[in-house]
Amino acid sequence: ATPLYLLAFESSCDETSVAVIKDGTEILSNIIATQIASHQRFGGVVPEVASRHHIEQITKCTTEALSQAGIGYDDLAGVAVTYGPGLVGSLLIGVTAAKAIAWAHQLPLIPVNHMAGHIYAARYVAAFQYPMMALLVSGGHTELVYMPREHEYQIIGETRDDAVGEAYDKIGRVLGINYPAGKTVDEWAHQGHDTFNFPRAMVKEANLDFSFSGLKSAFINTVHNADQRGEQLNQYDLAASFQAAVVDILAEKTMKALAQYPVKQLVLAGGVAANSGVRARLQADLARLHPQTELLLAPLKLCGDNAAMIGAAGYVNYLHGDRAGWDLNAVPGLSF
Ligand code: KG4
Ligand code: ZN
Repeated sequence: ATPLYLLAFESSCDETSVAVIKDGTEILSNIIATQIASHQRFGGVVPEVASRHHIEQITKCTTEALSQAGIGYDDLAGVAVTYGPGLVGSLLIGVTAAKAIAWAHQLPLIPVNHMAGHIYAARYVAAFQYPMMALLVSGGHTELVYMPREHEYQIIGETRDDAVGEAYDKIGRVLGINYPAGKTVDEWAHQGHDTFNFPRAMVKEANLDFSFSGLKSAFINTVHNADQRGEQLNQYDLAASFQAAVVDILAEKTMKALAQYPVKQLVLAGGVAANSGVRARLQADLARLHPQTELLLAPLKLCGDNAAMIGAAGYVNYLHGDRAGWDLNAVPGLSF
């Protein structure tokens, strides 16, 4: 059969990314232009700054993605694009670029949900088997998603307040770590011990929801109280204690979900899926409690936002006949 090439766009937050994917499973190129340096001095993503960066980068990224893949517009079968959730101004740049190319080259426009995209980062590890479940952990989301079959997503648990990545970034700031802080907190955690025993909210409750704001507040209060006493706490122990609580919460809720929804595979995806503690703990707990469930860890390079994951999800949408019209709009609050 002739290969099927998709051009994919991702611009929901602070990375501009364009990829070329062959047959939904092979990455021919995955160009990622990050803007982190421009946002760091503000301690978080500034939407207006993000949109401007996307505008500056998206054409360059597109040209590079095609040339690295060694194909032209005529070889494409479609254009896939993230249309939500995310920052409206950022999303609109990707949506507009994708529309322009699809319209000019008479190609189908394939809408992709950013969170479905995160799940499909794991598609580059193995073929999906259903029913499956995903633990999605990012800067904006923390959710357990059950997929009874391909192209069907049900949120069975989610955070009631902060997303886990957001909590990492906020406590990281208190420790003096630049945005985004998750990776450094993770590294520090390995150099310390869980001496603070921070609260694990809601783990004993029967529902599958999460809460991280209490943990975040406990952390911040501990540091501030010590400051007032003129006491300097061990930053590695603080990081280790925070991470131990996060890992306990995520693992316990996921195991609870698996007991209610037996699945063939569990996917760990999203920016926080790069966390070494979460990866190791899920691996250990799954082997012990649900050995019949296969763990698919999103590849480290594909945990953060990128267009390759959007291309893989877009391929499935394409096969299911999902097509957007020229009136496709960004949907900042898009859910499953
Ligand atoms: O998925 P992502 O790239 O963007 C969103 O869609 O939100 O996730 C970014 C988040 C940030 O909060 C960042 O601090 C966090 O992922 N993160 C980590 C690690 N690497 C990135 N959090 C904990 N441990 C890590 N190793
Ligand atoms: Zn994301």
